[in-house]
Amino acid sequence: IRAAVIGGGGNGEHDVSLASAAAVADALDPSRYEVVRLTIGRDGSWPGGLAGAVTLLQGCDVALPIVHGPRGEDGTLAALLDLAGVPYVGSGLRAGALAMDKWVTKLIAEEVGVRTAPGRLLTARTAGGYAWSGPVVVKPVAAGSSLGVALVGAPDDLPGALAEALRHDDRVLVERVVEGREVDVAVLDGPGGRIVSPALEIVADGFFDYAAKYGGGTTFLVPARLDPAAGKALEAAAGAMFDALGCRGVARVDFFLTADGPVLNEVNTMPGFTEHSQVPRMFAATGMSYPDLLDRLISDTLA
Ligand code: DAL
Ligand code: MG
Repeated sequence: IRAAVIGGGGNGEHDVSLASAAAVADALDPSRYEVVRLTIGRDGSWPGGLAGAVTLLQGCDVALPIVHGPRGEDGTLAALLDLAGVPYVGSGLRAGALAMDKWVTKLIAEEVGVRTAPGRLLTARTAGGYAWSGPVVVKPVAAGSSLGVALVGAPDDLPGALAEALRHDDRVLVERVVEGREVDVAVLDGPGGRIVSPALEIVADGFFDYAAKYGGGTTFLVPARLDPAAGKALEAAAGAMFDALGCRGVARVDFFLTADGPVLNEVNTMPGFTEHSQVPRMFAATGMSYPDLLDRLISDTLA
């Protein structure tokens, strides 16, 4: 099987995508896969130009678009592969675009009975009118790895946080801080059936920001220690979001587990994918190895 592994990408998660894509490419069994590595530049450029890259992709049996963030995970890459007629692992244009938009994800979640933090959508035009009512998280609507995200505990810090988030996107979400444990669940779905992973708890020292995500010092507990009711509620909410957004392949659904049950944080349609990232660890806890997880995603795509 000729498998194109696409990494990099023209956004702030470029280096994260490089790590994910390299790990995926290295884990594909060479006796079964001929791996073609394609790296999108930091400026969004394709090796050999877009036309050359599409021709290369069209010569492959399957593509693994391991690109996080805008112009990758947001459906753009899926759309390109759809138009080029190349089968690919993971969500399509619709789910990628919906999940990359944290505001739309919130509206859909509330509609299907999955709770989210109370929040407001602001733009550069409306941001000045926001009335402070307590600590908030400020985030660009479309970004990943916590880029542009700030925890704001005092009103004086709000304008700076809004300005920073607005550097990443022209729409910004201001959400009430949720008190709870950070717990994530992965859903794997396709012709081979659905597997909902055990929950993983993030034990971070403070705010789980870009530095905590990739600088070490954060512990993942998998399976998370949960009472059965909380586990069931998380599983149901993760499945409901996967279905509501129309995800395919695998998605990681991130929650805060509060005393009143799960509150959705966000859905990642191309979550971190090194062997030590959350999703591979969650499936490892079910007995599915990292290469087996990749095999399963590819065989589901080609089924
Ligand atoms: N956006 C990063 C890669 C994640 O969700 O894992
Ligand atoms: Mg994300």
